Amino acid sequence: MENQEFTSPSSTLSLVNGKAIPVLGFGTWQTPDGDTAISAVLQAFKCGYRHIDTAAIYGNESSIGVALQRGMNELGLKREELFVTSKLWNAMRGYEKTKQAFFKTLQDLKLDYLDLYLIHWPANSRQYPNFAEINLSTWKAFEELYKDGYIKAIGVSNFLEKHLSALVESEIPPMVNQIEFHPGFRQEQVCSYCRKHQILIEAWGPLGTGRMLDNPNLKAIAANYQKSVAQLCIRWCLQNGTVPLPKSVNAERIRANTEIFDFTISAQDMQTINEMAYCGGSGHDPDQVGF
Ligand code: A2P
Repeated sequence: MENQEFTSPSSTLSLVNGKAIPVLGFGTWQTPDGDTAISAVLQAFKCGYRHIDTAAIYGNESSIGVALQRGMNELGLKREELFVTSKLWNAMRGYEKTKQAFFKTLQDLKLDYLDLYLIHWPANSRQYPNFAEINLSTWKAFEELYKDGYIKAIGVSNFLEKHLSALVESEIPPMVNQIEFHPGFRQEQVCSYCRKHQILIEAWGPLGTGRMLDNPNLKAIAANYQKSVAQLCIRWCLQNGTVPLPKSVNAERIRANTEIFDFTISAQDMQTINEMAYCGGSGHDPDQVGF
C-alpha cells in the first residue's frame, strides 16, 4: 500500500460506503475516567488527532463526551471533522439490548450520531452453540441504526473468519474489523479475509499494549530511522494498510505517536518485521474467551 498521500493524523481513507476515516486514531482503553480522559483527548486534538476510539466497557464515555464538547467549543473543532467510534459490550448483544446500549452510549458521548459503532467481541462458539444467530440479531439492530442515520459506518471487533462469514452475507456487510495487530501478531488469515470483503482493518494494541517496546529487533530497526519503537510500530501498522489506534495518557507520548508521517519503512524492513515470530500478543483468542 502506498502511504505517500498520508501527511497527518487527519489524512483519510475511504470505507466501503465512502465514509472518510482518519488514518490514525486515538485509543482510550485503560484510560481512566475523569480528568485523565478529558485531558488526554484534548491533548490528542491539539496534536492533530481527529479520530477517537472508545467503548462502553472502557467506562470513560462520559468524560470523552466532555472532551468532545470542549474540543468543539474551546478548540473550534467541527463535529464533522471528528470521527468517533464506540463499541457494544458483550452483555448487551441481541436486537433489543443493542438499541438500548447504543442510545446510552450516544447520550454519554453527548452526540447525536456516531461515526462508527462496532460489536466489541463476537458471540463465540465456545460459549454459544448458536453464536452466528446471536451475532446476526445484534447486527440487525446495527443495520437499522445505520439506515436511520444514527451511525455513519458499522463494523465489528475481534471477529475471526468464522464469526464474519454470516455477517458478510447481510444487506449491509461490516465495513470495519478492529483487531489486535502489531509486530509479532499480524493475524494474516483474518486480514486477508477482510481485504477480500472490503472490510477495513483497525489495529488495536499497535504497541502490543506496550509489550513490543523493549523488543531488541525493533529497537535496532527504529534506531536506523531515528524513531522510537512506538513510532516504528505505528508506522508499520499504517504501511500494512491498517488504521492504528495507539493509546496514551502522557502528553509527550500522545504527540510522539503522531510523528509517523515523515518517514517510510523500507520494503526490506517491512518484510523483516512482517516475518517476526509470534510475540507480544494479549493471548485473547476471540473464539475462546469467556467474556
Ligand atoms: P501511557 O498511556 O502511560 O503512555 P497500545 O496502544 O498498544 O495499547 O499501548 C499502550 C501502552 O503503551 C500504554 O501502556 C501506554 O502508556 C504506552 N505507550 C503509548 N505510547 C507510548 C510511547 N510513545 N512510548 C512508550 N510507551 C507508550
